[in-house]
Amino acid sequence: MYLLKKIILLAFLLNGFESFANINENIVISTASNALVFKVDKNKKLRQCYYGGKLNSSDYSSIQISTIDAFPTFGTSYINEAALRAVHADGNTSTELVYDSFTTEKEGDSVELTTILLKDVYFPFQVKLCFKAYQKENVIEQWSEIRHTEKKPVMLYNFASSHLAFSNTNYYLTQFYGNWAEEMKMEEVKLTRGVKVLDSKLGVRSDQFAHACFMLSLNAESQENAGDVIGGTLAWPGSWNITFDVDQQNSLHVIPGINAYASQYKLKPNTVFKTPSFLYTYSSEGTGTVSRNFHRWAKKYGIYRGEKTRTTLLNNWEATYFNFNEDVLSKIIKDASDMGFELFLLDDGWFGEKYPRNDDTQGLGDWMVNRKKLPDGIGYLINESNKNNIKFGIWLEPEMVNPKSELYEKHPDWVIGQPNRALDLQRNQLILDLSNPKVQEYVFSVIDKTLSENPGIAYVKWDCNRYMTNSGSYFLSAENQSHLFIDYVHGLFNVLNRVRAKYKDISMMLCSGGGGRIDYATLPYFDEFWITDNTDALDRIFIQWGTTQFFPAMALASHVSVVPNGITGRSEPLKFRFDVAMSAKLGMDLQPKDMSPDDKEFSKKAIQEYYGIRGIVQFGDLYRLLSPYTNARTALMYVSENKNEAIVFTYLLKKAIAGNNQPLVLNGLDPKKMYAVSEINRDPKSYSWFSPLEGQIFTGEFLMKYGLRFAMYNEYDSKIIKLTVRE
Ligand code: GLA
Repeated sequence: MYLLKKIILLAFLLNGFESFANINENIVISTASNALVFKVDKNKKLRQCYYGGKLNSSDYSSIQISTIDAFPTFGTSYINEAALRAVHADGNTSTELVYDSFTTEKEGDSVELTTILLKDVYFPFQVKLCFKAYQKENVIEQWSEIRHTEKKPVMLYNFASSHLAFSNTNYYLTQFYGNWAEEMKMEEVKLTRGVKVLDSKLGVRSDQFAHACFMLSLNAESQENAGDVIGGTLAWPGSWNITFDVDQQNSLHVIPGINAYASQYKLKPNTVFKTPSFLYTYSSEGTGTVSRNFHRWAKKYGIYRGEKTRTTLLNNWEATYFNFNEDVLSKIIKDASDMGFELFLLDDGWFGEKYPRNDDTQGLGDWMVNRKKLPDGIGYLINESNKNNIKFGIWLEPEMVNPKSELYEKHPDWVIGQPNRALDLQRNQLILDLSNPKVQEYVFSVIDKTLSENPGIAYVKWDCNRYMTNSGSYFLSAENQSHLFIDYVHGLFNVLNRVRAKYKDISMMLCSGGGGRIDYATLPYFDEFWITDNTDALDRIFIQWGTTQFFPAMALASHVSVVPNGITGRSEPLKFRFDVAMSAKLGMDLQPKDMSPDDKEFSKKAIQEYYGIRGIVQFGDLYRLLSPYTNARTALMYVSENKNEAIVFTYLLKKAIAGNNQPLVLNGLDPKKMYAVSEINRDPKSYSWFSPLEGQIFTGEFLMKYGLRFAMYNEYDSKIIKLTVRE
């Protein structure tokens, strides 16, 4: 039967497809200035033929048909890496997809969804390639949907979100890697023939060592304001993989998706396997535009309530760690309010009855208040906050459990683990098995109970402090164990959907032992994110530089903390620490009572200065001026949408004995407008070499050609300059 069908099909093919209307048809997915073009060849194969700057619509038919499969499949495409590998119900290991049809539909004014349907030539097995084109932001969101009606399940071994191909001379890849307390470092390498893989197999907290983000510069090394660059990021908090394969013809294939490693998925008939979204944008004007495209997109579609001003807060983590009581916290709340903060965030250590959480060895999972520390409960602290006119937030790590907890005693089978293996602890804790609906119910109830029993909680910090090992589920059947990595994430989203359906007004911070979980599938539920546990301002300059390549500063929590810094031991001036935190979403992580009166006074003023510039930092466009990777002096700026205001931040990373005079050549201004320049957040005690420029007025053109020029001398000198249009 199978052979007969093949023969009939072959005859059909030999008769020629020339008569089919859709041969050579252009399928153009375009935004305001990008276009992605597919064509169908005479064998009905869908080919990716172009991705780059938008063309005149009449020119798309002049694009040549390529031989590049839009979605290469194992067994029939002969490139090295397949986007899809499936073993069909009858054991056949190959998939051969041909074009069937496509549809486009508008979603509002500026989003267009294109769906291209590919079908196997023999099996009732199909893949939909789905593309959302965000017109104004020039971002394309792509995912795949796999479905079949074969008699028995099909086993999926590879299931990419996308396959993008390029035919250029050289490819330069910027990757984002790191470790705890040193996340999101950047490194650019030239791709050579063969395969390079960026990936994570950590299951949860999966961005800790590498982020699912990349910049790809075509032909030459990447530049900030010039050159063809593609930025891409996978929206998935679980294990991920982005493969870069330079083939025998020097074409580059980029294949992003869930990491298929140890995750083969048994797909039942008539169910849809939907991959995560891969988001990408192209610019002919360098990495700066790529980042701004992502930021604009994120504020509209990629983070929770991206149009809303983010609040400042004081967090007690580095102030007290686990060592606090009602009086200590009440005093911090009062100090936070006196200094001008808008919210107090109570961190780890407030819970646990039988096993009080006084360090990280026990109590996780027992979300009842520790009455020894807080006899009057959370309500009392909410009242204290309200009395002091600030909001109250609370820390939760609902996906995790210490074995020393009442929860674990009751439900030892709720954790991720395997029979006949010892418990594998990290930070003394285990992960709850979110593939299990009962566990999902419990995790939801943790948040629900905490929020409903304590009305007045305005903010939740949602933490996640370990990776997956011993990756087994007591809930999943033996044959479905490899579903765990994927089902865990679906379980997490099920909980987050329920939380957001019920608690729309709560602000939430996404945290994972620092920046272990930052992605555009999770951020739509969260107002902000914690990028690292490292609050050292010098290190933060680098980590923030890397993170803001893809994620907007408005949501990037950056806290002033104590010196010497708890992690690096470095002592930096308070002004420097503020100036770095003020370039993102300002907060504080220290004990105010230990500050000198002068420092407290400076902090109060700095917080007010932040309120004066917060609109520009949180809603303006980011322009990077001097990279900390290549300069002793680094600088960045934000420009308001109407280009009437801008804020420049500059930091000196190393002492310059004869003075550092690197000009700050600005960007993003209106060349014709006149701007008055003024230093803010000044340290009244130190001489400012900016003073001769204070109050002067320049054209935007002058500032973008000649720039601002003033010397900086001391290590950790910093300046914030405000530009205001003068009519
Ligand atoms: C993680 C977070 C920190 C803090 C601690 C509390 O490490 O990243 O900010 O909340 O947990 O245990």
